[in-house]
Amino acid sequence: MKVYRLAVIPGDGIGPEIVEQALRVLDAAGERFGFRFDYTPCLLGGCAIDAGGTPLPEETLRVCREADSVLLGAVGGGKWDHLPGQQRPEAGLLGIRAALGLYANLRPARVFRPLKDASPLKNEIIAEGLDIMLVRELTGGIYFGERGRREQNGVPAAYDTEQYTVPEIERIARVGFEMAQKRGNKLCSVDKANVLESSRLWRETVTRLAPEYPGVALSHMYVDNCAMQLVRDPHQFDVILTSNIFGDILSDEASMLCGSIGMLASASLSGGSFGLYEPIHGSAPDIAGRGIANPLAAILSAAMLLQYSLNEPKAALAIEAAVHDALTELRTPDIYVEGCQKIGTAEMGTAIVERISRCL
Ligand code: IPM
Ligand code: MG
Repeated sequence: MKVYRLAVIPGDGIGPEIVEQALRVLDAAGERFGFRFDYTPCLLGGCAIDAGGTPLPEETLRVCREADSVLLGAVGGGKWDHLPGQQRPEAGLLGIRAALGLYANLRPARVFRPLKDASPLKNEIIAEGLDIMLVRELTGGIYFGERGRREQNGVPAAYDTEQYTVPEIERIARVGFEMAQKRGNKLCSVDKANVLESSRLWRETVTRLAPEYPGVALSHMYVDNCAMQLVRDPHQFDVILTSNIFGDILSDEASMLCGSIGMLASASLSGGSFGLYEPIHGSAPDIAGRGIANPLAAILSAAMLLQYSLNEPKAALAIEAAVHDALTELRTPDIYVEGCQKIGTAEMGTAIVERISRCL
């Protein structure tokens, strides 16, 4: 039987509880479709700081490099907010993305039909649902540019730098074009080229590649307009291609269109089959340990792992179908509406496991 090696990073806050459910679901999918997993847990973020004083232990990187893929919960929390930038839990997350070369972040924003009413958009705007793929550059831009503090004209100041090289833009643009080819052949590249020089280079570079993908209709949009269009008429988008920081912001917005940030999964890829899979939500320390967190973003991240890294599309589809089915009657508090049954984190995990085990 095929055995996949997974590095598992539960992280902080609700991370461990949602990852636990995702692993149960992966095991059920393996049992149903004939493979199994060898999990190696590792530390990242706040728990790693508590255990060894650093947010990204060398050992974690070693385990990840030896694995077929990585599943991550969430990192961070108020407990570590007082630490300086490089020692914060988030530095561990950015560090692991950079160290593993995970430059392409795929964030699908889909409205599962039973969740239509949980979206804050009017029903006539959501219509038959929503299906947008956001492709976010993940290892460049202002997240990784030069930053610091200095004195300017006698007063304290701080700066961060947005910078992109042509090869960085080209490789993420290709991910965007190829994704569009697999979907609706529409790519919208989002920038702020009316103001930022880095955005002008971004736009030029993406435009230059377009003739290589003649089937894909390329458009460009300023990020402020995109934020507005996402709520005005989200159906105009198929694939959105954008920089690290714009992708961070727009993906939170897109997640809410889908009803809850607790629903959105993501894949971070390095060009080959290796990837890191994580929900786009944070560690939600306010609800950690209460058994009420929505595990579906983590579970759907596990489905993406099966699809993109392990080439087990049937298992991935079975998980998605199970989620879809469960949502018709069962809801965690973040997506609860009257008429459904309100359940907790573990019960949602069980509901998905049961549906996978009995799927045909
Ligand atoms: C995300 C998160 C991270 C990011 C934080 C936790 C550093 O918001 O994955 O969207 O900004 O990339
Ligand atoms: Mg974010």
